[in-house]
Amino acid sequence: METRPETRLRTRELTLAYEERTVVHELDLAIPDGKVTVIVGPNACGKSTTLRALGRLLKPKGGAVLLDGEELAKLPTKRVAQNIGLLPQTPVAPEAISVGDLVARGRQPHQAWWKQWSEEDERAVVDAMARTDVTTLADRSVDELSGGQRQRVWIAMALAQETDLLLLDEPTTYLDIAHQVEVLDLVRRLNRARGRTIVLVLHDLNQAARYADHLVAMKSGHVVAEGAPDEVVTADLVRDVFGLDSVVVPDPVTGSPLVVPGAPWSADGVGETEQDEAVRG
Ligand SMILES: Nc1ncnc2c1ncn2[C@@H]1O[C@H](COP(=O)(O)OP(=O)(O)O)[C@@H](O)[C@H]1O
Ligand SMILES: [Mg+2]
Repeated sequence: METRPETRLRTRELTLAYEERTVVHELDLAIPDGKVTVIVGPNACGKSTTLRALGRLLKPKGGAVLLDGEELAKLPTKRVAQNIGLLPQTPVAPEAISVGDLVARGRQPHQAWWKQWSEEDERAVVDAMARTDVTTLADRSVDELSGGQRQRVWIAMALAQETDLLLLDEPTTYLDIAHQVEVLDLVRRLNRARGRTIVLVLHDLNQAARYADHLVAMKSGHVVAEGAPDEVVTADLVRDVFGLDSVVVPDPVTGSPLVVPGAPWSADGVGETEQDEAVRG
């Protein structure tokens, strides 16, 4: 019998649309438990739309998202929030909220009217802020932070929720390269040390290939390829999905596939095209 990875979160013929415009078409996607899954694809191919549906921010037009075999749409909100944390691509903070208060909102799914703010809540918030290096910002207003600081505060909020499933949409946007690596290393540590299942949308294909256990390449609302990065990332795939000529070599640090764009290449401008050939005759 075929052995398949366990998946708590999956989609079944999931179709997603805005008004009459269908963006994601009958998607069957299984998120492997305890792994880092990274979704890549060109702008506007439906990555964020898919992620939002996985976190129940968007209702399916057809098909379903299943959590532990049950339709996400039919589950109580609290149960969803206790299991799935989602950081959208462009989250919006309540006006003038402080960093500490925003991160504490990550504990909302664990709150109830009869329950005081517990030591457990406090520990989760302190821990999440320390891990994302925002502890010293606790009393600052979120409005007045830099893009990179704000991004780390959002990640802290998502971490404070302490869900087994964590969905992060381009969490490295606005971050300088050192903080990008820090966030991605943190994500991987959460996965390796605590067994969290993580789904990331990343626009950097090379980072995706480095950090993914399972890579999903999307184009026009369909999955074009999925699997281990070294199986998925090939020059053919990059041409098909991104319309880019490239050479794929082993990353000198990790051995994962490294996409080097631009082949053929000429130093005085663009690569040789059919027109160039025509000009040369
Ligand atoms: N709220 C919205 N209303 C209408 N169209 C949207 C909305 N959000 C996204 N879209 C459209 O859906 C398509 C997929 O968007 P998105 O999932 O954000 O792409 P990606 O994250 O891959 O860049 C795009 O054409 C985008 O313009
Ligand atoms: Mg997006």
